[in-house]
Amino acid sequence: MQQKERVLIVDDDSTTLKLAAHIFEKAGYDVYTAMDGYEALNKVATLRPDLAIIDVMMPGMSGLEVCQRLRANPDTAWMPIIILSAKSGVDDKLDGFQAGADDYVGKPVSHKELLARAGALLARVKRMHQPKSRVIAGVGVKGGVGVTTLLVNMAVQLASQGISTILAELRSTRGTVCHNLNLTPSEGLGGILRTNPAELQPREVIRRLVHHSSGLRVLAGPTQVADYALTEAHIQMILNTLQSQAEYLLLDLPQIAGGGVQLALENADQILLVLEPEAVSVACARADLEILKSWGLADRTELLVVSRARSSNLMSVKDVEAELGVQALSVIPPSPEVFYLAASVGKPAVLSKPDSLAVGAIIKLTTALLDRFSASGAWRG
Ligand SMILES: Nc1ncnc2c1ncn2[C@@H]1O[C@H](COP(=O)(O)OP(=O)(O)O)[C@@H](O)[C@H]1O
Ligand SMILES: [Mg+2]
Repeated sequence: MQQKERVLIVDDDSTTLKLAAHIFEKAGYDVYTAMDGYEALNKVATLRPDLAIIDVMMPGMSGLEVCQRLRANPDTAWMPIIILSAKSGVDDKLDGFQAGADDYVGKPVSHKELLARAGALLARVKRMHQPKSRVIAGVGVKGGVGVTTLLVNMAVQLASQGISTILAELRSTRGTVCHNLNLTPSEGLGGILRTNPAELQPREVIRRLVHHSSGLRVLAGPTQVADYALTEAHIQMILNTLQSQAEYLLLDLPQIAGGGVQLALENADQILLVLEPEAVSVACARADLEILKSWGLADRTELLVVSRARSSNLMSVKDVEAELGVQALSVIPPSPEVFYLAASVGKPAVLSKPDSLAVGAIIKLTTALLDRFSASGAWRG
């Protein structure tokens, strides 16, 4: 059950107090009352209401002083405050705002209006305090280096631990995540991209998430050629929406590019740049690292080496690191049998081959990232 929002009403006049309390109780709030400034400050400290409605003229401490004191205390500086007073000239209102009120309402006020103002104020604070996901973006230095495979497995690994996770395939070409998970992509990004981003509602994005048996939710990439147009406005809207829906948001971004991809990377807390230990990948990685640096994103970028095949002509990870001047955070060993099996049964390797070396490396990487994030605080909000 959702917790009721708590309102503290402060007025020295018991009739006004009872009436206001009644209105807010009827509207579904938990109501506390105080009859003077000292009682109000005590109740704020002990009961931590979500909103205070304060009268100005009270014996002892005035409502304006209560307001000032609440603003001066870091614990309550953010607290929504409405002043409700019979003194409702322009100068009185200016004094109220000067004291830190968010809103100033003259008595008598219609009950509907007071409830509407209180509701609007609380809704705004709620939006501000909404927790946001940790965003991990995976991007390849070129196509086919194993980004999707890595992210699908990381995402399922997170979800299987009961961590709420969304994997979003943000790309303007055909998506492959659903194939890896044996999911039917429904409309995925398609319907979203066909809607004008200015008219796009969060629920439209949420509705298109596909659910995997691990608990993972997926925003699948486009399936129709007509949908291959992912604009910056769409990406911003999708990110804004999804960031309030899960603890971890993983972004599958095929390659570095300006516009939407840059925007998505700027929204990421951690960027995983994926490459293979061979000359072409290294050349591309060098160029990509330069771009990320110029965007101010080098600090949050980690290098990830995926060896997809065993060959004496591949470079050693040491040589790759020396060439790029960056240490790799993780190395995924070549495991074609593991990933072919995973693809053929539509079950990611973390579920179909949990004991393999490649899965071991992916789990180790996922755990390292979880540790890194938990060291920097809980689900940031
Ligand atoms: N460590 C690995 N060993 C062997 N094959 C791999 C490995 N990682 C990925 N692959 C395979 O490489 C191919 C491309 O991977 P994919 O994740 O689709 O790349 P990308 O998303 O970068 O285009 C897939 O067939 C996948 O199964
Ligand atoms: Mg891919």
